[in-house]
Amino acid sequence: MARKKIALIGSGMIGGTLAHLAAMKELGDIVLFDIAEGIPQGKALDLAQSGPVEGFDANLKGANSYEDIAGADVCIVTAGIPRKPGMSRDDLLGINLKVMKAVGEGIAQYAPDAFVICITNPLDAMVWALREFSGLPHQKVVGMAGVLDSARFRHFLAEEFQVSVEDVTAFVLGGHGDTMVPVIEYSTVAGIPVPDLIKMGWSTQERIDAIVARTRSGGGEIVGLLKTGSAFYAPATSAIAMAESYLKDKKRLLPCAAHLTGQYGVDDLYVGVPIVIGAGGVERIVEIELKGEAKANFDTSVAAVKELLVACKGIDGSLG
Ligand code: APR
Repeated sequence: MARKKIALIGSGMIGGTLAHLAAMKELGDIVLFDIAEGIPQGKALDLAQSGPVEGFDANLKGANSYEDIAGADVCIVTAGIPRKPGMSRDDLLGINLKVMKAVGEGIAQYAPDAFVICITNPLDAMVWALREFSGLPHQKVVGMAGVLDSARFRHFLAEEFQVSVEDVTAFVLGGHGDTMVPVIEYSTVAGIPVPDLIKMGWSTQERIDAIVARTRSGGGEIVGLLKTGSAFYAPATSAIAMAESYLKDKKRLLPCAAHLTGQYGVDDLYVGVPIVIGAGGVERIVEIELKGEAKANFDTSVAAVKELLVACKGIDGSLG
């Protein structure tokens, strides 16, 4: 059986880390694509030269032409530019929408059967636009945010409870941004929900509230520290978990930005919800009951995503 093919559209900080992880895990052969000449080729060569030491078998290729992604089983999209100081939200939307158009058309032409994972920000709008531009089935296009946001939440909770991260599960739903919704009721240590752990004296509501707030601004905290860029290790790992679930038909239940058609009372939007990823792509959208504050926060988050889409449609009439 031929090896699987993974196309990484965007070969910057996250793209390079994705290639490293995919190679180390032997998920398949890897094409690093970018508009910048030399960067994908240089990263591919550098990574290939780590193969003999690590002992992984994967062909790595750098490319500046969409032809090279032909027949990819998975495409992971990080192409775009980050928001720079002085740039408005709509400036960023305008630039990255153009990038999504080029990427969407490239995927439609050369890898129409791929499972596509979008990471480019603002995530919930970009994944929606990428799906529109590519015309791929909705269940084959998803956004990576929830796995990362949940991983941040799990890390902070494990630190607070002084237990292994392995035993901490958590859900962060809604849009990827200030309005994301860490759901405490469904976050557990080995099955014990966080509200019960508070009752058991493991922590206090105030401390958990502070962890929720830190999770919401988790990306910003890292930007503040790095100063010249944003997080890339954890975002890349998160997308690889999604790709692996698809390639190996693992049917993992992961929070991802998925296209909703009435679930959670939301229609034709990409929002972070729990989904099952298997060989069919998004095989199931899991509707958990959200109550009280979580429900109110989710609705606020959905309203923020809607607003972003209105702005996108204003910028690019073809999205109307
Ligand atoms: N086609 C292909 N690649 C492009 C295009 C395009 N039209 N426009 C820009 N790129 C490439 C850039 O050349 C760069 O190599 O996308 C890459 C982005 O890499 P970085 O700037 O290093 O960004 P990274 O940290 O990898 O994050 C990528 O993910 O989390 C989000 O907010 C983040 O939107 C950003 C994206």
